[in-house]
Amino acid sequence: MPDLYPLIRPLLRALPAESAHRLTVRALAGGLGGLMAGRGEPDPASLRQTLWGRDFPNPVGIAAGFDKDAEAPDALLRLGFGFAETGTVTPRPQAGNPKPRLFRLYEDRAVINRLGFNSRGLEPTLARLRARRRLGPWVGIVGVNLGKNRDSEDAAADYLDGVRRVGRLADYFVINVSSPNTPGLRGLQRRDILDDLLRRLVAARDDAAPGTPLLVKIAPDLDDAERADIAALAAPSGIDGIVIANTTVARPASLRSAAARETGGLSGAPLFAPSTVLVGDIYRLTGGRLPLVGVGGIASAADAYAKIRAGASLVQLYTALMFDGPALLGRIKRGLADLLHRDGFSSVAEAVGADHRR
Ligand code: FNR
Repeated sequence: MPDLYPLIRPLLRALPAESAHRLTVRALAGGLGGLMAGRGEPDPASLRQTLWGRDFPNPVGIAAGFDKDAEAPDALLRLGFGFAETGTVTPRPQAGNPKPRLFRLYEDRAVINRLGFNSRGLEPTLARLRARRRLGPWVGIVGVNLGKNRDSEDAAADYLDGVRRVGRLADYFVINVSSPNTPGLRGLQRRDILDDLLRRLVAARDDAAPGTPLLVKIAPDLDDAERADIAALAAPSGIDGIVIANTTVARPASLRSAAARETGGLSGAPLFAPSTVLVGDIYRLTGGRLPLVGVGGIASAADAYAKIRAGASLVQLYTALMFDGPALLGRIKRGLADLLHRDGFSSVAEAVGADHRR
């Protein structure tokens, strides 16, 4: 199948950012993914990895926020992602913030969003995950990123509800305590609060879906003390990994686009360096004992490789897809296999954290 994305891109660019995104998800869910980039060649063997007892064909996943309501996880896997993270999903449906709330920063290869967890709620996600499970457990790795409703007083109750109701339908869970667009959410990253929250969630997971990895997703804006706190509590709490990182509330002085003044979380190229430093910090602070998922500003094989060398076992991306289209994925995977080979690594796992061993 030829790559028609270069023809589709001008249309998507002409639309408001959120409409372009809706159209893309609808097209994927409707089976039109092949028009945007054929499945391409099989993944290089060096990209394969078994983590948490799950077989990842390659380490490059689609980050949370692209497919919030689990409309197209299998289409995303068919595009060539090694795993797909759906969500953030909140227990009850909610509209999110008023539009416009998604802004493209072309000059900066970045995006600002203040969507505020627009979500259809758990029910539609559960129905879709149930339907795909009927096809069998072998069809690919789909994680579920859980959030809380904006008007919910008891954050823990919302996350617990998510873990219990999704149960075995998820291949892994991510607890999102790091979106900047839900008031108070990032306060859940404070040591005592997070420790208590994660312990309760691990217990709920052990009950509802034993063996299903439970990860926490953190913000790139944490200071040194907060990094040390989270690294110290992570393994003892019983969680299985950390997703690093969510969007940033920082506005680097380098930003040139007019939309840089918008309120919300910044993603894309300007997030690459700070989120990669955070991967390195957490890897070092946890002694490399906890699998990390590196996300933030990946737009090339070299970017993905840098996250892996800093300590990420898996990587994810979202924003670069808006600028470059899905053909980017094949380029990243091929390039990553070349970089591993160049440096004498026979697998991704061998390269994880390599920068710390130099
Ligand atoms: C996001 N991101 C996000 N993360 C999350 O945990 N839950 C969510 O619902 C969303 N929603 C969302 C919407 C939009 C429009 C964007 C651009 C991003 C954050 C995303 O998963 C990722 O952590 C960051 O975007 C950094 O990666 P990229 O985009 O720089 O590759």
